[in-house]
Amino acid sequence: MRVLLDRRNPASAGTDQVSDEQLAGLYAVPGADSWLRVNMVSTLDGAATGDSELSDSIHNEADNRVFGVLRSIADVVIVGAGTAAAEGYGPTDRPIVLVSRKGQVPEKLRGAEPGAVMLATCRAADGLTEAQSLLGADNVFVLGSHSVDLVALREHLVAQGLRRLHAEGGPHLLRDLLSSGVADELCATFVPRIVGGEHPRITAGPPVGTDLDLQLLLEDESTLLGRWFVRR
Ligand SMILES: NC(=O)c1ccc[n+]([C@@H]2O[C@H](COP(=O)([O-])OP(=O)(O)OC[C@H]3O[C@@H](n4cnc5c(N)ncnc54)[C@H](OP(=O)(O)O)[C@@H]3O)[C@@H](O)[C@H]2O)c1
Repeated sequence: MRVLLDRRNPASAGTDQVSDEQLAGLYAVPGADSWLRVNMVSTLDGAATGDSELSDSIHNEADNRVFGVLRSIADVVIVGAGTAAAEGYGPTDRPIVLVSRKGQVPEKLRGAEPGAVMLATCRAADGLTEAQSLLGADNVFVLGSHSVDLVALREHLVAQGLRRLHAEGGPHLLRDLLSSGVADELCATFVPRIVGGEHPRITAGPPVGTDLDLQLLLEDESTLLGRWFVRR
């Protein structure tokens, strides 16, 4: 993996054979009070899923490597309920916050250590009572009436000392994080593959207009991995 462009440290452009330690530095979050980034992958023709209808069919080694590094430098992982269910999310070494209107906790996220899995949901959630008994009432955040107030979610997590917020999509959650102005950064990987057909893009839902600035661009065997900061 090599650095093509690094706006923070232009001299690092051209660095080759980037180690995991260097990657952690390249992806370090700015010294803000808190930072929320989202990591997504797509094909060159804009598909967010491949043959399996899951993103695992378009992930590659370079993307998985950065995915792992981003998790390792996060305080908490945030994921939409659609992705958690489709991709079979289980507990990880970072606490997970599941975002769901319905308040349903997927099977594999049940039975974890208290606090390893949290749920952000809303008052109208059908699964609220069950989720509270599965995860513990303290780990279920009721933030909003019919949708999760993502600004309030960020504030809530930061108040718990979780400052480096790392979201892994999916497309509906990314769209909502952008439209609510909560996302600071998008890490987007473009894998050198065309899949055609009908597939979701990395955002889904109503239109959103967000401008971003490229901060970092890496390349690994024709895969492009970038950090874009949301323009404020
Ligand atoms: N290419 C990539 O980088 C990437 C990344 C992640 C996922 N994916 C793929 O995307 C697909 C899943 O797409 P998706 O759009 O369904 O994923 P998603 O955004 O993870 O899930 C949508 C669900 O998340 C909850 N949600 C999202 N925003 C919310 C909000 N503001 N308030 C409350 N709940 C909210 C709702 O859950 P409830 O229905 O429970 O209320 C909603 O139905 C899978 O195929 C997955 O493999 C691709």
